[in-house]
Amino acid sequence: MLLDRLNRPIEDLRISVTDRCNFRCTYCMPHEKFGHKYQFTPKENLLSFEEIEKITNILVKHGVRKIRITGGEPLLRNNIDALISKISRLKNINDISLTTNGFLLPVMAKKLRDSGLHRLTISLDSLDDEVLKSMTGRNITAQSILSGISAAEQAGFTQIKINTVIQRNVNDHSIIDIAKHFKNRGHIVRFIEYMDVGNLNDWGKSKVFTADEIFNTINAVMPLKKLTPNYKSEVALRYQYTDQSAEIGIIASVTKPFCGNCSRLRLSPEGKLFTCLFASSGTDIRSILRDTSGKGNLESAIKNMWSNRSDRYSEIRNKTLNKSPRKKIEMFQIGG
Ligand code: GTP
Ligand code: 5AD
Ligand code: SF4
Ligand code: SF4
Repeated sequence: MLLDRLNRPIEDLRISVTDRCNFRCTYCMPHEKFGHKYQFTPKENLLSFEEIEKITNILVKHGVRKIRITGGEPLLRNNIDALISKISRLKNINDISLTTNGFLLPVMAKKLRDSGLHRLTISLDSLDDEVLKSMTGRNITAQSILSGISAAEQAGFTQIKINTVIQRNVNDHSIIDIAKHFKNRGHIVRFIEYMDVGNLNDWGKSKVFTADEIFNTINAVMPLKKLTPNYKSEVALRYQYTDQSAEIGIIASVTKPFCGNCSRLRLSPEGKLFTCLFASSGTDIRSILRDTSGKGNLESAIKNMWSNRSDRYSEIRNKTLNKSPRKKIEMFQIGG
């Protein structure tokens, strides 16, 4: 089995299929920096579905069993359902999920279900329209995302995950609204500590509403008990309401990092592999895939990359923050 320097296997591949998005979330693609003139990856530089399938097949040989499709906003990639059909037919892939902002689900949910997608994660940071408009940087109402969630339910998706990033004094008041809204609907809300991904979101520790605070806020109104993890590298701490009505998760990458079990590898739209969400650079495999000289060897590039991996950014964040900042990959280039 292929292990990294910290003895971690590759189990989970996140495939970002586009760096474009129809939202401009302040913590990801602030609209001041991503206006009309911003140059997203040109089409010819995007990996084709055949190329993605080829890479996935090699990674399956080295342990990958779970795939998540992300973006940017993955539903903006033309014919995304065709990629899902291809991947869901691969041997040994036992879980394929997709993270979306939900806006296009009313038109896409059924296609996604029919293509073999197992699970959906939908981002929703507030039920308060003014807050949502300001956080998404677009005129997005909560109802439009809730309609996307309903469309997903109608298409047959169950136990949908709702990702809610909490920023202090921005949407911490939305925690209870969201928790209450989803409590009896069979879905799993995951409250996420605001992280210092990328270079654009002006992150500071004072803006993090911590996992303990999230827990205390909910527990005071709707008591919670802890659940055991579903699997070793799970990022969310799982809880259940004591009345057993629903499960929730808290993702505490800042205050309780989980690098020790991190088995996630991320593929960017233009074909670079990143071994950490906070990496500065990735391994370019598109050039190997497209090299006609026959010299490039995809398999050995992948083996080299993973066997040299020692990333544990969240665990050493405090030490690195005091040093001069280095450039990091942006969230919209490799998804969540
Ligand atoms: P499941 O397969 O349903 O268990 O999904 P997941 O728990 O891996 O969830 P998802 O991919 O939706 O991740 C949820 C959020 O957790 C992301 O949006 C990120 O904010 C954060 N996250 C996920 N993976 C990592 C990681 O490797 N490192 C850090 N620091 N944060 C992560
Ligand atoms: N901190 C935590 N989560 C983030 N996401 C995007 N940026 C951040 C951040 N700075 C989450 C989004 C979405 C997923 C793609 O990543 O909320 O659910
Ligand atoms: Fe788009 Fe998601 Fe980034 Fe928001 S967080 S701008 S929805 S990619
Ligand atoms: Fe994995 Fe990097 Fe996240 Fe740690 S910070 S869990 S190594 S992606």
